[in-house]
Amino acid sequence: MPGTKMPPPWRIKMVEPIKMIPREERERLLEEAGYNLFALPSEAVYIDLLTDSGTSAMSDAQWGGLMQGDEAYAGSRNFYHLQSTVEDIMGFKYVIPTHQGRGAENILFQHLIRPGQYVLGNMHFDTTKAHIEWRQGRAVDLAAEIAHDTQAYHPFKGNIDLEALEEFIQQKGPDQIAFILVTVTCNSGGGQPVSMANMRGVRAIADRYGLKVFMDAARFAENAWFIRQREEGYRDKTIKEIVREMFSYADGCTMSAKKDALVNIGGFVGLRDEELYKEVSRLGVVFEGFPTYGGLAGRDMEAMALGLKEVIQPEYLAYRIGQVEYLGQRLREAGIPIVEPVGGHAVFVDARKFLPHIEKEKFPAQALCIELYREAGIRSVEVGGVLAGRDPETGENLYPKLDLLRLTIPRRVYTNEHMDVIADAFIAIKKRRDSIRGVAFVEEPPILRHFTARFKLV
Ligand code: F0G
Repeated sequence: MPGTKMPPPWRIKMVEPIKMIPREERERLLEEAGYNLFALPSEAVYIDLLTDSGTSAMSDAQWGGLMQGDEAYAGSRNFYHLQSTVEDIMGFKYVIPTHQGRGAENILFQHLIRPGQYVLGNMHFDTTKAHIEWRQGRAVDLAAEIAHDTQAYHPFKGNIDLEALEEFIQQKGPDQIAFILVTVTCNSGGGQPVSMANMRGVRAIADRYGLKVFMDAARFAENAWFIRQREEGYRDKTIKEIVREMFSYADGCTMSAKKDALVNIGGFVGLRDEELYKEVSRLGVVFEGFPTYGGLAGRDMEAMALGLKEVIQPEYLAYRIGQVEYLGQRLREAGIPIVEPVGGHAVFVDARKFLPHIEKEKFPAQALCIELYREAGIRSVEVGGVLAGRDPETGENLYPKLDLLRLTIPRRVYTNEHMDVIADAFIAIKKRRDSIRGVAFVEEPPILRHFTARFKLV
């Protein structure tokens, strides 16, 4: 199976119609939306690649599970099912359900971070960083240097730089470190995996300084798949064995179930320690809900428990990761510059390389997102200058090293024929790329400008 192209390990029982609206209408909607794809109605989108979060298709078993919700305020049967599943797969005895990943971050970080303390990780996701800073903590990214080179191949580009990690702890003193947080896979680095050896190394360092290690587990199964494919000694292990070993190096996790639990809403905190569980679950009551439902319906917890079992199936993962790689391969063959290697959940196109005539001041990745929608009704997302915003002190635009367009693939939703539509759209755009214009702000909100800004073509 590894290395070969995997056909879908499911057949389709229910369909949701989508359609490509006429080009003139797409043009008009773009104008109305101020050339911001977040402002488009979803029905005007043919293939939606804004995110892989909460966009999965559930299985028949999961839909069946929704009918078996025990909606008791306390002690729901579905909670116990979730708890035993998390314990079986991840090894965490204590589970606190939350409405989604950031709810888990909120209650765990409130308990663990004192003002001024550092949280060290490979690359923290935006909401994670925001929750650290909300507690007046400081989020530090210590991904290995190679993570920043978009063309260099490394099997585990999500790894933490262990030397830098230890040096940082020694320099600031362990008291100043709230905990270490390893994000698997590393979303902000392009969905790149973290190796088992790296996790083991993180644990050893943490033990030397008496620190706790947590995992941001949003895409844990995809990470385990890469370990099995790429790391020596894991080829003959089951995904479940690999997952168990990964989490054996952590004291707990935050989970956005909207990714690798194959559900549309949900999350949880997983913990090993009873005392810590008691503290965090008290915060859970205040911010999420009673500890046996945590802001979710019983049926949602049932779907999560079932999704966790499905996501570690090797056939599922082979198809999933294979589909993302298939899109990457088609783009690569067409000479579209992409970030290498392709990660677990998305393909990133290097817009500055693809549109070299558009200066960074005119946001080439935003321009390319607009063009991709205009060409084929595909919604992608800018990860570049627009997203980066401005320096809060100088007010100057923070132009990052890269202007990327992210094609995030929802789980079990699109077929490889849809991947072909995406690749063909890029091929068509490539032919006329010199005529593509950059953008300028017409309206620029002071914070999180990418969500609501309006642009014009320049
Ligand atoms: N951690 C990681 C690594 C994530 O990618 C996300 C969400 C979260 C935490 C927060 O979880 O959305 O359930 O509250 N990532 C989405 C994305 C939004 O598009 O990459 P949440």
